Amino acid sequence: MIEAIIYESNTGFTEKYAQMLSKKLNLPSCPAGKMKKTFSPGIEVIYMGWICDKRIRGLEKAQKYLRIEAVITVGILSPTPGFIALLHQYNDLMDLPVFYLRGGIRREKLSISQKLILNLMAKKLAAPVKRGGLDSISNADYQVVDSILHSNSFVKEQNLEEFLFWYRTQTEVNPYNKPVI
Ligand SMILES: Cc1cc2nc3c(=O)[nH]c(=O)nc-3n(C[C@H](O)[C@H](O)[C@H](O)COP(=O)(O)O)c2cc1C
Repeated sequence: MIEAIIYESNTGFTEKYAQMLSKKLNLPSCPAGKMKKTFSPGIEVIYMGWICDKRIRGLEKAQKYLRIEAVITVGILSPTPGFIALLHQYNDLMDLPVFYLRGGIRREKLSISQKLILNLMAKKLAAPVKRGGLDSISNADYQVVDSILHSNSFVKEQNLEEFLFWYRTQTEVNPYNKPVI
């Protein structure tokens, strides 16, 4: 039975989603840094973590202490086909169910080195513009570049729907998880 939502958030977007989900599922949400003080080892949880350079932050540590039933990860990129498969590959997720949500950028909350990494990401995404002009970048990539340069949020409650659908199917199999939706 899933008992809690554990999350790691750097600038607040993952935390915001965790709070939304906590309300919808009537489950407590807890920052990963407090999981050991708050929960017994081995309980079943949903893990939510922001993506930093393709890696889901805090996941490995949480996996050592808790039993993770599903992972929700929050990033800035617009997902392309194969995106989830790549996340599986980079994070050794085996057969864990993984869901991706778009968060946002708050430049004022980032360290200098984090800004540098993001600037490089933006430069790479915007590279085709140098060769072929503005028409050569997709709208989705343009939005990401713009968010990286000026901050932006993609957080909305509807983004949780795919996960909620999965969660409901799980609770039909296991009636002890009773979501309050
Ligand atoms: C240093 C750095 C690296 C990042 N790498 C990725 C990445 O590889 N893929 C992605 O989709 N988003 C990436 N992002 C974007 C964050 O995952 C995104 O801003 C997310 O919403 C942050 O969530 P938080 O506010 O909970 O920390 C990166 C952000 C930073 C600062």
